[in-house]
Amino acid sequence: MFKGKKIALYVTGGIAVYKVVDLMRELIKNGAEVRVAMTPSACEFVSPLTFQVLSRHFIYLNTFEENDPEVVNHINIADWSDLALVAPASANTIAKLSAGLADNFVTSALLATTAPVFIVPAMNANMYKNTVTQENIEKLKNRGHYVMTPDKGFLAEGYEGEGRFPEKTRILDELKLAMRDQDMRLPLKGKTIIITAGGTKERIDPVRFISNDSSGKMGHALAEAAWRQGATVKLITTSQLETPGYIERLAVESAAEMYNEVHTLFKEADALVMAAAVSDYSPKNVEKKKMKKQNELTLELKKNPDILMEMGRIKAPQQCLIGFAAETDNIIEYAKEKLTAKHADLIVANDVGKTDRGFNVDSNEVTLVSHTDEPKVISLQEKSKIAREIINWLIEYYN
Ligand code: C5P
Repeated sequence: MFKGKKIALYVTGGIAVYKVVDLMRELIKNGAEVRVAMTPSACEFVSPLTFQVLSRHFIYLNTFEENDPEVVNHINIADWSDLALVAPASANTIAKLSAGLADNFVTSALLATTAPVFIVPAMNANMYKNTVTQENIEKLKNRGHYVMTPDKGFLAEGYEGEGRFPEKTRILDELKLAMRDQDMRLPLKGKTIIITAGGTKERIDPVRFISNDSSGKMGHALAEAAWRQGATVKLITTSQLETPGYIERLAVESAAEMYNEVHTLFKEADALVMAAAVSDYSPKNVEKKKMKKQNELTLELKKNPDILMEMGRIKAPQQCLIGFAAETDNIIEYAKEKLTAKHADLIVANDVGKTDRGFNVDSNEVTLVSHTDEPKVISLQEKSKIAREIINWLIEYYN
C-alpha cells in the first residue's frame, strides 16, 4: 500500500524521535518515498544526518534556508506529498497546529498542505491527559486529521502512563486504514464480506482431533485483498496466522463453530467467500477425557453441515457466494457440478494433487468457474496475487 506513496515525515521534539528512524526505514522498505522535515527540538534528540543518510535526501530544517531559487521548500514539500505524517507529535506542535501557527518549517508546511494529515502523539502522560492537549487533539480530529492514541506503558520518566510512542506495527496498520478510508473511489466501499479460512479441527477427545492440511494462507490473503479494495472484512478463521489490526477476526475451531459464525453474520453480508477447508465429518461422540490406548479403535463419524450449501439455500439474489474446490482430477467438471449444487456464483478450483500449489504452500494456481464466463485459469503465483484476481472477479460481478 505504501508503494510509490510520497510521504512527508514531520519530526518534532521528543525522546521517541529515535523510534521514528526505524519507522521511516520501514516505510522506505515498503516502497514509499520519504522526505523529512524536523523542528529544532527534534534535532536535539537525533541528528538530521541520520535521517538524511537513511532517506537519501537532505532534511528540511529552516524555513528561510532556500537552496533552490526555483522553489519555496515548505510549500514544495506540502504540495509534493500524498500524506503528511507527524511523528512523534509533541504537545507543543499539536497546540501550534490546532491554533494554526506557522513559526517553523514543520508547522509552516503543515499549514500549507492539502494532503491527509496523520498524527502520532508521544509525550509525558500528564501532558497528554492535560485538558488543553485533549482539546487541541479534538480540534485536529474535527478538522479531519487522523490522530492516533499513544500506547500505555513504561515512560522515559520512569513511571507508567499513557503517552508512549505506539508500536511500529500498530502505526503501520492504522496508517493503512487511514489511507484506505481517504480513498473514496475504492470499488468495495460499503460492502461487507465474510471470508472463512483454514482447516477445521474436529475433536476426538481433549487432546486429539481430525483435521486437514489447509494453512489458512489463501483465506487470509483474500481478507487482505478485499480490505484493500474498501470492503469491511470479517475473517472467520481456524488458522494461527497473524492478521492486521484492521481486519475483524473471529477465531473458530470446528465446522459447527464456523457454521454458527457464518450463519449469524451472513444476513448482513454482501458476499461470502468459503476458502476454509471444512471437514466433511466429525466424531459422533467427543470423549470428555483423554482416551486410553487400545489395540483397535473404531471412530464413528457424523456428517458436518455443508456451510456453503446451506448459505446457498438461504441467500438473497444480491448476495454473492464464492466456494473453493480442492480436487486431484477432473477439476473443471467437478467445479461446474459444485457451482450448481451449492447455488454458488463462483467456484475457485485448485489442483491439490501437486506439491507446489494449494494446501500449506505460498503459491497456487486456480481456475475460476462461474455461470457466465468461460473457465479462467490464474497461473501459478503467490497467493496474495491470486487473492487479488479473485477479488477483481467479485468487483466485476458487482459491476
Ligand atoms: O463439497 P466440497 O467440500 O468439495 O466443497 C468445497 C467448498 O465448500 C469450499 O468452499 C468449502 O469451504 C465449502 N464447504 C463448506 N462446508 C463443508 C464442506 C465444504 O462450506 N462442510
